[in-house]
Amino acid sequence: MSASLSAIAYLGAAILFILSLGGLSNPETSRRGNLYGIVGMTIAVLATVFGPRVTAEGLPWIVGAMVAGGAIGLYAARTVQMTQMPELVALMHSLVGLAACLVGFASYIDTSIAFEGAEKAIHEIEIYIGILIGAVTFSGSVIAFGKLSGKIGGKPVLLPARHWLNLAGLLAVIWFGYAFLQVEDIAAGMTPLIVMTVIALLFGVHMVMAIGGADMPVVVSMLNSYSGWAAAATGFMLSNDLLIVTGALVGSSGAILSYIMCRAMNRNFVSVIAGGFGTGEGAAPAAAGAQPAGEVTAISAVETAGLLRDAKQVIIVPGYGMAVAQAQHTVYEITKLLREKGVNVRFGIHPVAGRMPGHMNVLLAEAKVPYDIVLEMDEINEDFPDTDVAMVIGANDIVNPAAEDDPTSPIAGMPVLQVWKAKTSIVMKRSMASGYAGVDNPLFYKDNNRMLFGDAKKMLDEVLGVLKG
Ligand code: TAP
Repeated sequence: MSASLSAIAYLGAAILFILSLGGLSNPETSRRGNLYGIVGMTIAVLATVFGPRVTAEGLPWIVGAMVAGGAIGLYAARTVQMTQMPELVALMHSLVGLAACLVGFASYIDTSIAFEGAEKAIHEIEIYIGILIGAVTFSGSVIAFGKLSGKIGGKPVLLPARHWLNLAGLLAVIWFGYAFLQVEDIAAGMTPLIVMTVIALLFGVHMVMAIGGADMPVVVSMLNSYSGWAAAATGFMLSNDLLIVTGALVGSSGAILSYIMCRAMNRNFVSVIAGGFGTGEGAAPAAAGAQPAGEVTAISAVETAGLLRDAKQVIIVPGYGMAVAQAQHTVYEITKLLREKGVNVRFGIHPVAGRMPGHMNVLLAEAKVPYDIVLEMDEINEDFPDTDVAMVIGANDIVNPAAEDDPTSPIAGMPVLQVWKAKTSIVMKRSMASGYAGVDNPLFYKDNNRMLFGDAKKMLDEVLGVLKG
């Protein structure tokens, strides 16, 4: 393929990626958006593999690597459970970071293109920054994977003087960067490059380890953004325009998503970027893991069905437990039945419900729940006082009144769905265990709250059975 044809293909792919992002912003157009993305990526890969920069000797290597990588990706995507999706995404981000590091070292060692003067300096700055972003993304994403999959505890690990440690790391990175640019010889340049890589890897670990459980969503979207910038940096190192554009698209859309998440969780965007936020300086570890206190009132599936049948207004609040139990289809069966009987059933979605952005929307869309009865937290929160039954399905942190009432809570300040304002709230979960943030939930002990203990799918099947009968 000639250079100009490949440039046109790249342009087409870049346009398709932009259309894809546009499509993905709305559930109704998201399938089309996805399709644009697939077509764009296919064009991009083909134009690169058959492009002017791949030699005949290199082709078998590339095809071999693509087959191996593609097979692993296909296997992972087919076997992954919906609830493991966030971990998989975190793992993928780590690979982008790792690729940026490897490409950085490879382009530094590669002497086939001789850079001179200013060009050389720019190339080396690209390499240095590319490896820096790549290494932070890599180690941060690996830790995020560990935290999301429960392999690493969710509690924030706060080193003493951590801000000073970060600052010292930053100064060292700048100093070694200066040293790196001064040396002429590749062997001598390796030392500052490797030292910086180690510092960046440690910073990534430190940054994500210091994040408290409830604040992980912001980190996940932030690492998504970092992975985009790592890809863009790789694009600069390889002089690949499409990679720069695509990386910048992912980087900036991830940054916008992080900002939206921060607003949804009432967290400060700048402190997120600096790392180690959301721990309330001492408040979080003290309050986290507090023992449940008080009496709860349990309820049966039959009584739940009765309350639902007699209600006029019902709001369902799904959370991570609905995803675990795969209860979305039964939820919709119940919704349909109740709506046929004239009950106004709607859904209230918290921006960080579940374990990834849009988690609940995806599940409800899969069960074919119409979009117009699925409302965002801001759209529905005022309606709880006029609601007869608020049914919480496997959610916990996102309906925790402590976020509003208890300034010492690790989730203090996070807006929550005010289900306790409904006439009756029913919480469906298996035990009194806490949610992802590891904090007790005073909602369970409120006079107007009932607990329906059991697996969400099993209990909802029973409720459905009673409603049908
Ligand atoms: P959580 O607070 O994690 O609560 C989920 C509840 O579901 C648990 O308390 C659990 O209680 C219950 N559960 C688990 N399996 C169940 C099953 N089979 N049947 C019924 N219940 C089941 O979830 P949430 O309310 O959705 O809040 C999300 C949390 O995750 C927030 O803290 C958020 O910050 C964090 N987070 C979110 C994201 C994104 S981007 N959405 C990413 C990372 C972290 P039992 O064990 O007693 O059943």
